Amino acid sequence: MALIEFHDVYKAFGPKVVYKGLSLAIERGETFTILGGSGVGKSVMLKLLIGLLKPDAGSIVFDGERVETMGPKALQRLRQRVGMVFQGAALFDSLSVRENVAYGLREHFNMDEASISERVAWALSLVGLPGVESMNPADLSGGMRKRVGLARTIALQPEVLLYDEPTTGLDPINISRINHLITSLEKALNITSVVVTHDMSTAFSVSHRLAMVHKGRIIATGTRDEFRASTVPLVHQFITGQAPEDEDMAALVGRTGQGDRAS
Ligand SMILES: Nc1ncnc2c1ncn2[C@@H]1O[C@H](COP(=O)(O)OP(=O)(O)OP(=O)(O)O)[C@@H](O)[C@H]1O
Ligand SMILES: [Mg+2]
Repeated sequence: MALIEFHDVYKAFGPKVVYKGLSLAIERGETFTILGGSGVGKSVMLKLLIGLLKPDAGSIVFDGERVETMGPKALQRLRQRVGMVFQGAALFDSLSVRENVAYGLREHFNMDEASISERVAWALSLVGLPGVESMNPADLSGGMRKRVGLARTIALQPEVLLYDEPTTGLDPINISRINHLITSLEKALNITSVVVTHDMSTAFSVSHRLAMVHKGRIIATGTRDEFRASTVPLVHQFITGQAPEDEDMAALVGRTGQGDRAS
């Protein structure tokens, strides 16, 4: 049995149908990337997985347990095991880096101050930012903020890391740094990772397998090589960054016209 399974999941917000038959299996230990245009439901998928949203139909199974029927206790355990690095890595600007990274530890665990300090230092050094505990988030660069956001999640020592757009808005050097980090964390901590991204360098450098979401379903899954060689037109267009030719393509790459920039 796969670690994470979506079985025929439906999800709508009012008239807006996001998923209509989403099925997907992610194996233990793999790094799995979800591709798809803006607004197709990538963040919704991650939120369904940690029970922040409930499906209208279908089921989501984590390590043999159904997520959509979990009560508050089971959900709390789930969110200790499955850490989410949120899109935008929202840090609390009024708290120091140390308190930001310690936040989940205080929330979920009953740890003494010495253990918290030790865990915060460990998480910050894993993301390549040792010793920045006393800094304020406002004084950090975008790349550093993303890494502090990641440290906050790693500090909980999850078995699964969900990354929502970990490299969006970063320069190429920071993108490559985050790509290496995702790969080295997977090796160092033996973690299962699910990565949502628009960035092809991230997708191809970190993934064992990829899937592409379009119109409420998965339209392709495969290894990196299979994706590179894909003859599915939408996959090919997405990974080569070709200009959209019709409305579907426009939706797919999140553009409203030829002159607009993809988000
Ligand atoms: N809580 C919510 N209430 C109403 N609509 C929502 C909610 N969450 C998401 N949506 C809608 O569901 C659709 C999918 O949203 P989602 O955030 O998953 O897209 P995405 O693929 O992550 O996009 P992006 O690449 O821009 O982050 C969007 O149309 C969004 O407006
Ligand atoms: Mg999103």
